[in-house]
Amino acid sequence: MSKYKHEIVNYLYRNDEYLSGQHIAETLNCSRVTVKKVIDQLRNEGFEIESISNKGYKIAKIPTTWQEDIVNIELKDNLLLNRAIVQTQVDSTQLLAKAHVNDTDNHFIVLSDEQTKGRGRFNREWSSLKSKGLWMSVVLRPDISIQKMSTFNLFISLAIQEVIEQHYDIQCKIKWPNDIYIGNKKVCGFLTEMIADTDGVNAIICGIGINLNQTQAEFDKVNQSRATSLNIENGKPIEPYQFLSVLIKAIEQRYNQFLNLPFSEIKELYKSKSMIWNKTLTYTEGNKQIVGRAIDIQDNGFLTVISEDGDLHQFMSADIEI
Ligand code: BTN
Repeated sequence: MSKYKHEIVNYLYRNDEYLSGQHIAETLNCSRVTVKKVIDQLRNEGFEIESISNKGYKIAKIPTTWQEDIVNIELKDNLLLNRAIVQTQVDSTQLLAKAHVNDTDNHFIVLSDEQTKGRGRFNREWSSLKSKGLWMSVVLRPDISIQKMSTFNLFISLAIQEVIEQHYDIQCKIKWPNDIYIGNKKVCGFLTEMIADTDGVNAIICGIGINLNQTQAEFDKVNQSRATSLNIENGKPIEPYQFLSVLIKAIEQRYNQFLNLPFSEIKELYKSKSMIWNKTLTYTEGNKQIVGRAIDIQDNGFLTVISEDGDLHQFMSADIEI
């Protein structure tokens, strides 16, 4: 791979006009042959690059697979999450994030086009077809106590919910504590793991899976009637870089709120975006299982459920059958 590839991709992507081979070569201090070779390589990797004689080259379309250079350009204006590890295929972004967590004290994200062992909560399989969704782990470094973590998922689910609703104009709701639903179909699930000791939290590793571009037929048998994608819902292909860019901004904003505001400040908003009210549902946490109705969320993020016999129960993180 030419050592100029990174510079040439950056230069072309940042400029929305035609750039001649001569101009690129002079600006980046390389030969025109190098520019031509890199352009050919980029085309082989899925970039559509227009070339017009006497005008030059322009990127017409970037590939639907993640390109580390482009991801890092898209993230550059973020204060927190502006570094990415990008791989074509991984077992799980969550495992890769954990493997890199001690490399740096910084925040970063891990992205992959495809996961071969994507996992959800309760170690359930998470289907992660190539380039059909956002399979991402976000590594954050808060200076907080373990107790404070009990509201983290609530802030993050709000970030995801509002991106889908506000940027894609799709009505969706949060299923406490970790899912986003459109109607009665799941479009996103996330799981939060942390590395902590008695002094507090050292790192949060939040793995987020969002179905972007699957067709209904592409979901496996079990999920045919239970899962959906943003593309199915609004009938338009979802451009992954654009989605990533708005999502990261929303996560940063809600994460800063999580650090600085009590949950009570956003509780009413959260409750209004939540789908579990006024329904009798089955709640399971460890060995405890009850059938009841959720009636409130406490300031520490716990869910209050009233069971059929009238008893009140507090859940920290239940599995809810809907
Ligand atoms: C759930 O709904 O149970 C949570 C699903 C979380 C899936 C994401 S995809 C990216 C990250 N890597 C994984 O293996 N899992 C999470």
